[in-house]
Amino acid sequence: MKAPLYDAVKAHNKKNMVSMHMPAHKGVAEPLAALSEMQTLDVTEIPDTGSLFDGEGATAQAEVFASELFGTAATFMSAGGCTLCIQAMLRAVAPHGGKVVCGRVVHRSAINAMALLGIEPVWILPDDSAGEAFSGRITPQAVCDALTANPDACAVYITSPDYFGVMSDIKGIAEVAKQHGVPLIVDNAHGAHLKFLKEDMSPTSLGAAMSADSAHKTLPVMTGGAWLQVCDSRFVPDIRQAMALFGSTSPSYPIMISLDLARAFLCENGREQIEVLVGRVNKIKDLCAEMGLAVAQGICDPARIAFDTSMLGFSDGEFGELLRLNGVEPEYAGQGKVILIPSVMNTQEDFDVLSRAIEKICNEKREPAQSVLVRAALPQKVISPREALLSQSESVPVEKSVGRVAAEVFCPCPPAIPVVMPGEKIGKNEVSQLLSYGIFNIKVVK
Ligand SMILES: Cc1ncc(COP(=O)(O)O)c(C=O)c1O
Repeated sequence: MKAPLYDAVKAHNKKNMVSMHMPAHKGVAEPLAALSEMQTLDVTEIPDTGSLFDGEGATAQAEVFASELFGTAATFMSAGGCTLCIQAMLRAVAPHGGKVVCGRVVHRSAINAMALLGIEPVWILPDDSAGEAFSGRITPQAVCDALTANPDACAVYITSPDYFGVMSDIKGIAEVAKQHGVPLIVDNAHGAHLKFLKEDMSPTSLGAAMSADSAHKTLPVMTGGAWLQVCDSRFVPDIRQAMALFGSTSPSYPIMISLDLARAFLCENGREQIEVLVGRVNKIKDLCAEMGLAVAQGICDPARIAFDTSMLGFSDGEFGELLRLNGVEPEYAGQGKVILIPSVMNTQEDFDVLSRAIEKICNEKREPAQSVLVRAALPQKVISPREALLSQSESVPVEKSVGRVAAEVFCPCPPAIPVVMPGEKIGKNEVSQLLSYGIFNIKVVK
């Protein structure tokens, strides 16, 4: 029997690499051991299990326990990743479309959802407070200016932390949103663990109305498992319906069970485990500083490791290749940046392998170079994202796209600041950025 995907995963697993990437369960040990009986747990909506989108039975009970742990008005499980939570949040705040003030550090799932819902994003560019090599933060002042200029906006949408772990001032932004009478919703895909830090940094604890938490990225949860955290109780009654609008009618029970198991694990000793993780990550960050690897400045996720390798002369994915040769599989390596996603499932031995690898690689002499992130400006908007995404389109070479209107999102990740959005005019600036990211063809409106 041929099963190429299964075979590839088995072959990769045989290499015994240290996993410094998603999913955070790392394929090992408790609390997921029960899932080795995968098929026996792959059930459906029966009276004993309850139905996710009907909010019944054991499924609903698992959500109530999660809500108690996270201190929310309600917590909803998603087996469709954070993407489904983002779709539901946007549907809840803008059921009839309209303007949403939105940080330009944004994942494509939000842009697609905005197009489907007829939402008009009002963009705010990030500042440069995280340093030259990293995408920056959305400031409360910038949100205030955008809301003042757009009094008809119905919500604020912020991504924090970003892929690098850079965090915006959610408390300050929540206060500004409150003063303007609109809800703040946060793409907290990379921050499901923030609740369990010594100082709770989760968006809903800092004043956000809702957050979308991609649990599988940073907590021991199967890929696709996420929570939608709702603190503003006005949104509770309609959220389940909003999730059902976008979600499959067959949500995966193994994924939901993994959310429930992770919740139980976090209830027991989440804080202690995250504290140990942060201690280990701090040591790696100290080593990075000692070795001359630049890390993002200002408030960042204490459990994320992201650094710029170009200062030491390592080009593009070179540092990643060297990490692999030394037994570490990174989450991302390219554009002179490395992103590692360790979790509570990584052992001290894993961190020892990682620190030996970083030390060894950095001791190899290179010619230093300067890495500066090309900061995107806002291209001119011609039509709405909805019109552009749903239009007839054609693929053209990037060099020939000047003056055309983009029909898709181009968001190299990192920096995760889209170069051009659907509906925006492509200029020379955008062309050179796309080429520098190795993008050679682009879909444009016909
Ligand atoms: C910032 C951000 N938001 C949302 C998502 C979507 O999350 P998921 O893959 O869980 O649907 C991602 C995925 O990488 C992300 O990086």
